[in-house]
Parts: sequence; C-alpha cells; structure tokens
Amino acid sequence: MGAPYQFRRVLNRSHPMPPRARRGRILAVAIDQKSGHPLYRQIYGHVRQCILDGRLAAGARLPSTRQLAADLRVSRSTAVQAYEQLRAEGYIEGLGGAETRVSGALPDSFVRAGPRDAEPTAQHRTTLVPGTRARATLAALRRSPPPFGAGPRAFRVGVPAVDVFPVDTWGRIMARRWSRTPARDLAYGDPFGYRPLREAIADYLRAARGVRCTADQVMVVAGSQQGLDLAARVLLDAGDRVWLEDPGYHGARGAFTAAGATIVPVPVDQDGLDVMAGRTLAPDARMAFVTPSRQLPLGSTMSLARRISLLEWAASARAAIFEDDYDSEFRYASRPLPALQGLDRTGCVIYAGTFSKVTFPSLRLGYLVVPTALVDVFAASRHFIDFHSPFLEQAVMTDFIVEGHFERHIRRMRAIYHERQVLLVSLARERLGGLLDVRPADAGMTVVGWLGGGLDDVATTRAAERAGLYVLPLSPLAIRPMPPALLLGYAGVRDDEIRDGVNRLAIVLEQLVRNRVPSEPAHLLAVAGSVA
Ligand SMILES: Cc1ncc(COP(=O)(O)O)c(C=O)c1O
Repeated sequence: MGAPYQFRRVLNRSHPMPPRARRGRILAVAIDQKSGHPLYRQIYGHVRQCILDGRLAAGARLPSTRQLAADLRVSRSTAVQAYEQLRAEGYIEGLGGAETRVSGALPDSFVRAGPRDAEPTAQHRTTLVPGTRARATLAALRRSPPPFGAGPRAFRVGVPAVDVFPVDTWGRIMARRWSRTPARDLAYGDPFGYRPLREAIADYLRAARGVRCTADQVMVVAGSQQGLDLAARVLLDAGDRVWLEDPGYHGARGAFTAAGATIVPVPVDQDGLDVMAGRTLAPDARMAFVTPSRQLPLGSTMSLARRISLLEWAASARAAIFEDDYDSEFRYASRPLPALQGLDRTGCVIYAGTFSKVTFPSLRLGYLVVPTALVDVFAASRHFIDFHSPFLEQAVMTDFIVEGHFERHIRRMRAIYHERQVLLVSLARERLGGLLDVRPADAGMTVVGWLGGGLDDVATTRAAERAGLYVLPLSPLAIRPMPPALLLGYAGVRDDEIRDGVNRLAIVLEQLVRNRVPSEPAHLLAVAGSVA
C-alpha cells in the first residue's frame, strides 16, 4: 500500500479541497475553529467521509497520530480522539501508530453507497416492500386525505374553533402542574392512563352521556383513532367482517383496513344504520362501527328501535359494537341523546369519545370505555404499542375538567357554532340556491350540501380548492354510489370567512355549471381495502 496518506489543513469549507490536494495521496481537511464543533469531531467526520466515498480505500495507510497532529496543526490528543472514534466505529484499524489503516472489513457496497451525511439520496431509495395491509391503508388514506397541518379555513371539515381555545388557562395549568410533578409521575404509568383523569372522564360520561361505567373501564387513548386501532387489534382477526356505516367515517374504514378486516358497507337512513340490512349482508360479522349520536357524514341520529335491534344482533352474534361518540357535545336543538352504551346489558359495546373536538385535535387525547372483562386484554395491547398517553397532558386535562373550564368551553363553543351554522345556511340559501342545497343540522360541526346542476362532488372539490376553499366530497366516504354532495365545516370558520367563502363558492359553482365540467367517473375512486 506504500506511504501513508497525508492530510493537509485548509482554512474553511469554502476551499474544501484545493486542486493540488485532490490528486495523489494528499487529502485536504477543512477545519473551522469557529464552527462550535470540537476539532476531533471535524477530523473524524472528514476521514469518515473520505472512507465512505472511496477516496480512502480499504487497507489504505493513514498517518500516525503524531504525524496527523503535525500536518493539521492540532494537539496530539485531538488526533488521538479522532482516531479513537473512527476505530470504535470500525472505520480504521491499528492503534494510531505507523500501521494505522482503513479497515478492510467494510463491504464495498457500503462504502460505495457514499457519505451518509452529505448525500440524502440513499435514504430515498429502499429495497423494502410494504405489506398488503399497509398498501391498502395507504390507498384508503389517499381517497380522503386528512387536513394535515392545516388550520381552520372555510369550510374545512373536522377542525374546531382552535383560535378561541383558552390557551392562557391551559398554559397556566400546565406550568403549575409541571412545577409540582412528583418524581413517580415521570416514570412509566398505567396503560389505561392517569387515574384522576379516568375518574373525571367517568363522572362526565355518567352525567352527560348516560354511559354506565366506572373509572376502571376508562382507558385514555391518543384520540379515538387509536381507540379504533386498539379495538381492531383486540377483537378482530384478519378477514373478519365488520359492518361500516355507508357512507361513513373514513378513519374507521382505514383502521379496519389496516387490521386486515373485510368491510361490509351497511346503508344508513334518517334512523341511522339499517340493522336489518346488516343482518342480511353479514349476520356473522364480528363488529359494527356506528356513530349513533350524529351519523358521520349525513347527520342522522340513530333511533331507539334501531339501537335496541343493533344490541340484540350483537348479543346473539357475539359481535362487538364500536360506538364513536365524537361530537355529541354540540347539539343545538335539543339535549343530546344518551349513549347507546347505556342500553348495553351484555357488555358488547366499546364506547369511544374524544377531546379533539371539544378542546383541540393536536392534543391527541381521547378515551375508550371497555367492558370490565376486556380491561386486561386492552391493557396488554396498549402496553405493546406505546405504554400509555403522556402524563403531563393527562394531568392538565384533569384540572381543566375538574376546575370547570371544560364545561365552560363547551357551552361557549356550542353557542358560537350554532351562530356560525345559522349564518352559513342562510347565506347558502341566498347565494347558492339551485346549485348547492345546504340543509341545517341540529348538531355537530358540519352541514351537508347536495349538489345540483349535474355537478360531480370530487371535481367540484378540486375546483373549490383552486379558489382557496376546502370542502369534503361525499362520494369518497361512500362505498356504494351516492348522490353528489359536499360537506362544509363551519365550526372553526369566522363569520367574515363564512361570508367570503360562500361568495367564492358561488362563483366556483356558477363557473362549473357554465362550463359544464364533465363528471369524474366514480370508478376512478377505487374502493380501498377489502370490501365484502
Ligand atoms: C367520526 C369521527 N370520529 C372521531 C373523530 C376524532 O378522531 P380523533 O379523536 O382521533 O381526533 C373524528 C374527527 O374528525 C370523526 O369525524
């Protein structure tokens, strides 16, 4: 291998490698005294990079630490530290004397892959292939992309009025809690969550939602989406059939698809899920997903007769009912109907609620109420996912509820949302009549607008987006064909934005009707996941 390579110090990275130094056995090292990085790390990084990009081949001789220190005008101990790091990571062999060499053990393919830090492309390629379930999950997400990172905006669905959330109160509670946190609460906690929060949730659910439970059955989860995932893990095997409201919540469809379940679309009408249709389509299903308080997306409330019939089927089929009670706090015309879970006498209901709509979604806190006999198996499944939800947020939420801020915030939101809905519906009637039939809803954060003028809902959504408006088309939420409709969220949209949004939507719809944009064929929206 001949004489050792030599390193030459250059001033800074603007001249990383003078032309002469590129040739032969001299390699330039740019050392920046002001960079804040220790000198030994800079030398280590440079030599490592020379090895990875092939400038220093396997077996190449390196200068001794004494020579290296002299060439680079650094102390001997800096050179020793740099070599020690390289040796510890397996890049070089030898003790830093005359026989120090680049390790012969690095596989060629690893070295030729190039320097990791400088060239990110290696991270963009992979030979890995996701499994069938993950591919189906990706397809499910692409059908209805969620509004990641998006704030409230006309007429974004599912986002509450986060701008009026009492952040100061929350911040004060958080600071107080943090300063008083005992050491034991910094260790691992109970998979079911922080006990005082579970008690506060159980009290709230018994009083406000007629849920029959104790705190022992309440599990704090990372939003009801995690609750769906957990219920699927605990109660379903791959291929099991699940009734899903059609049209229905894409979050549930995605979670059951990810679990490898076979989705059975069951129609909904003004009384909620059509239980008789479900019994005909898949009497042997293992689970039914329902939103009985306010069906997502059509907004109907499940009738008492249907609730009883669903419970009877579940008891006889030994199937589970997943009750997603996601926004029942926002009911304007009457008191919320008690939860379906309160009627359950056989322990077949998994009840889910969320703080996403009543506080703010990025908090990622929700809860499940599970039958007592299933507490252990839910705890075990949660343990192997993420142990439990973060302590501090749970503690803050406890105080937020116990000190009355929660109820106060809900009351305030209910009034604001109702006013916003009234404004939206009246403006839509004035400006969109004949093009979009927006019906008032007696609950929730969303209204449905049925499209006229022969317009397709997906094409209309895209045109609206180009005009800076966000609406959700109904058809991707439906498995069987549905009349075209748009979902309009109003909860997080200020009055002036509602006015402006309706005007802009009117222009979009008028233009589309004038130009008669051809419909996007429904078959392009292939159904993701396995559907029975
Ligand atoms: C039907 C339904 N369930 C639950 C949720 C809330 O999910 P999470 O609690 O995971 O934020 C939403 C949010 O849009 C929803 O539409």
